[in-house]
Amino acid sequence: MKPIKKIGVLTSGGDAPGMNAAIRAVVRTAIFHELQIVGVRRGFCGLIDKEFVPMESHSVSKIISRGGTVLKSSRCPQFKEADMRKLAYRHIQEAGIDALVVIGGDGSFRGANRFYKEYGYPIVGVPGTIDNDIYGTDFTIGYDTAINTAIEAVDKIRDTADSHNIIFFVEVMGRDSGFIALNTSIATGAEATLIPEIETDIQDLCNYLEYGRRKNKSSGIVIVAEGFGGGNATDVAQKVKEILPTYDIRVSTLGHIQRGGSPTCNDRVLASILGYNAVTTLLDGVKDVMIGNINGEIVRTPFEQAITRHNDINQMEYKMSKILSL
Ligand code: ADP
Ligand code: F6P
Repeated sequence: MKPIKKIGVLTSGGDAPGMNAAIRAVVRTAIFHELQIVGVRRGFCGLIDKEFVPMESHSVSKIISRGGTVLKSSRCPQFKEADMRKLAYRHIQEAGIDALVVIGGDGSFRGANRFYKEYGYPIVGVPGTIDNDIYGTDFTIGYDTAINTAIEAVDKIRDTADSHNIIFFVEVMGRDSGFIALNTSIATGAEATLIPEIETDIQDLCNYLEYGRRKNKSSGIVIVAEGFGGGNATDVAQKVKEILPTYDIRVSTLGHIQRGGSPTCNDRVLASILGYNAVTTLLDGVKDVMIGNINGEIVRTPFEQAITRHNDINQMEYKMSKILSL
């Protein structure tokens, strides 16, 4: 492998709080190792459009506490086309960038893995997504902040639900996974959790809500992951209203509020550790892997595994969430 003298860093896919802390760690670690470092704006689109910005130590001053990503991100469908990846490769070569750090979710790693297979180009991934759905790490950057935002919102919804005897269906993010939903549920004592990984019968849910009423519960919160197979929060609420027409039922969709905000301490520390290790991994001559943290240890997982395997929902936690809200 050609010696690495210049590294590029980009953020791709859905942004996540803590991505800036990861960028900062990559930039400062590269500078410590006397490498040049270039920021690529707007994810893979920045490779296609040659949006390269030289970075210095001061370029990342005071960004550790900021949400979003200073490099901007994109969903970049063009990168799925072979011709566009060829153009991206040409631009990287012209700019003399020897290796890339890609901060993003599994979609971004799919793109990175494809690029590596086509050009043998060194790329290391850093898992940044609020969904926490990436194999090869206990937690992804942004997840901790997102669930803390979600629980703060649900606690507030509980206050008004309790005052008016309302059943609330609260939709949280998670197109393919229920981690945000389940942990928000546990942390707020929600009455039920609907997630993509587990089928839930609407009649059973109604029986459960009625049971709560008989026990004089003054409100009900049902957390619905956006990817729940039985429909989104509005769909589910409508079905429940048909079965329980006398109930006051409301819907609240938390939406992109979960993606923003200043990262928590956990996310800043995780992002710093993963960003730092991404650079040292490249310097060790390792490529086509994602850097994760499992039980406090740094783990390098081949992209191929990170994009094909999944972290399962913890069944004990799911069962426990129901028992504790009885
Ligand atoms: P995330 O990384 O958060 O999962 P996406 O699924 O939108 O977000 O993926 C981010 C970007 O990665 C896409 O917009 C696209 O540019 C690139 N990408 C995703 N899948 C592929 C693929 N199969 N081939 C090439 N590029 C891909
Ligand atoms: O990938 C993170 C995520 O926030 C998902 O939970 C959600 O389904 C998706 O992004 C929403 O993306 P967009 O803002 O592009 O609609």
